[in-house]
Amino acid sequence: MVNGDRIEMIKDELPPGEVPPEEIQETNMMVCAAFSDMFKPVIGPFGSKILITQGATKVEAADLISSNAYSLIKELRYTHPTADILITAGLTQGERVGDGIATVMILIGELVRRGYELRKAGVHQNIVVDGYERALGFVKETLKEMATTVDIRDEAGTEILHRVAKTALKKGEFCDEDILADVVVESIRRLSKSKSENENRHIDVDDIAIEAKSGGKVNETRFFEGVVVDREVLDALPSDVSDAKIALLDFPIEHPEPKIKGRKELPTGMPARERSKAGETLGALDFHVKISKPSHLREFHDTRAKLFDELIDPIVKCGANVICCRWGVDADALPKFRDAGIMLIKRVKLTDLERLERATGAKIVKDVSDLSPDKFGYAGRVSQREIGGDKYVFFENCPRKESATIVIRGTSLRVLESIVGELKSALHAVAQLFEDNRVVPGGAAVEVESAHRLRKFARGIPSKEQLVVDAFADALETIPRAIAKNCGMDQIDTLTRLRAEHFSGNMNAGISGRDKSIRDMFQVGIIEPLSVKLQAFISATEAATGMIKIDDLHIAKSAVEKEAEDIEARIAGRTKDLIETERKPPDFKFKGGRLKYPETREEPLKSVYRKPGDKRWKPR
Ligand SMILES: Nc1ncnc2c1ncn2[C@@H]1O[C@H](COP(=O)(O)OP(=O)(O)OP(=O)(O)O)[C@@H](O)[C@H]1O
Ligand SMILES: [Mg+2]
Repeated sequence: MVNGDRIEMIKDELPPGEVPPEEIQETNMMVCAAFSDMFKPVIGPFGSKILITQGATKVEAADLISSNAYSLIKELRYTHPTADILITAGLTQGERVGDGIATVMILIGELVRRGYELRKAGVHQNIVVDGYERALGFVKETLKEMATTVDIRDEAGTEILHRVAKTALKKGEFCDEDILADVVVESIRRLSKSKSENENRHIDVDDIAIEAKSGGKVNETRFFEGVVVDREVLDALPSDVSDAKIALLDFPIEHPEPKIKGRKELPTGMPARERSKAGETLGALDFHVKISKPSHLREFHDTRAKLFDELIDPIVKCGANVICCRWGVDADALPKFRDAGIMLIKRVKLTDLERLERATGAKIVKDVSDLSPDKFGYAGRVSQREIGGDKYVFFENCPRKESATIVIRGTSLRVLESIVGELKSALHAVAQLFEDNRVVPGGAAVEVESAHRLRKFARGIPSKEQLVVDAFADALETIPRAIAKNCGMDQIDTLTRLRAEHFSGNMNAGISGRDKSIRDMFQVGIIEPLSVKLQAFISATEAATGMIKIDDLHIAKSAVEKEAEDIEARIAGRTKDLIETERKPPDFKFKGGRLKYPETREEPLKSVYRKPGDKRWKPR
């Protein structure tokens, strides 16, 4: 990560406590600019990928290679306190609309960078904040004017959803994005069917499970109705059941472990054999069974089998013909299930059990004594089928419709991780249209048109705010520049041509990345939901204005105390020698969480922003 060094530098060098506001502002600006520069190469259909290393992914301890901004910001490790505000803005965008995160990250940086320049030029921070808010209000209106309402219910609507999905997806090298777009639209359509006309039409994308499985090609990615569980049916048991009554078990179908009474700790180092003799338990021997007659062995086996039967019999006889168990199942249990014609799946993930609960109406049972028909769920058909050589169990025709599963295939987990992120972005974008069915042109058409109108609007403002509104327009134009650059076009050339198109009234003119030209976005079908764009501009402006208002940096008292105890513990913005200074007891005082240094200190505080020899800055 190229910008990592920069952030690292800021982290190490930012002085704590009594630092002039200019330095704090400049550092904040640099952090924002570093994030902005980091996401510029990522945006757009041909955005490049970022590698986040050191076991970033949750799937396995592997690196994450992705161009999906949401996946990236979730995994980024950062230490500077300002980065927190930026990441939170990105996450808010992710949680609210699920797409447009790269746009937010870029815009924040550009707005803060320009705001800082204006402050340096003598525009008060409150004027910058007011100006940005005013510009945002104007842009919101512009966006609403540019938006077109679409009908998404019929066939033509499906085509529009498909286009929105394609705009949100990257042009991946791994597969045809038409296939992924189809999968996205089908899944959201499936969820939307469960909603009646008058109901709140919010679609919860989390209802769509994404099963990523390495092996196979991305083109084999498919959508399935209902729940798909990545498990096999246990050997020789039925693998296709119609009119399934499903029981979900959260306890193992295994022999109970013998319990030892009077367990006593023995001195460590005592050999296991000795312990065994003493009839005690520890270490290598988990339990001790003392058998002195052959009949004891029989008794032991009989009791063991009886206990096991007491566990299995109620399950076999409960009336369910499909059993999903979260834990292990002992092999000796299988004959009984086979004779009863029951399908049994073991080690089903808890998340899958919960999805089955939602889809089939079953209730997870934690103890065999609780098992009763009112806890069963239903499915028209449960069957084991193969996809790309791997076996999955499909639960179809479930009574609750809000269940859909996408099974993604890919050569490696890294490829899959990045596709999961892309798919989620597209799912969110399409789902947005069911709440608000207005779309705006993509390819940075809205940014260029808003900038164009903002500049005209600014001319009518007879105050310093005029400069601020202009700065907002400039910040918006970094988006078309970044997209053009990533598509392999000349940034300046593209921007000037776009401006000319918008000046002559073609407000839907944008960048068509595939043919590297400027086209009418509605004609080429590059469209985005209005809500995604609106939220992106709102999230970015809120974060940027919040950032511009920051004038000073204090370190919480608790953090200072903790750090004084541990020289190695470094929080953002501390230099090593300052920490050393704090360690000297007589020099070091806490005052309201702020660091105070004695006036007699000979060495001036170190700061990257002050040239050597400069006098120490004195508080006003
Ligand atoms: N074919 C295309 N040609 C040009 N621009 C496109 C095309 N498809 C999409 N875009 C533009 O690319 C931008 C979206 O890119 P991207 O999805 O990388 O960023 P994001 O949505 O801000 O972030 P993320 O999806 O990572 O959360 C939008 O401005 C969109 O209009
Ligand atoms: Mg996107």
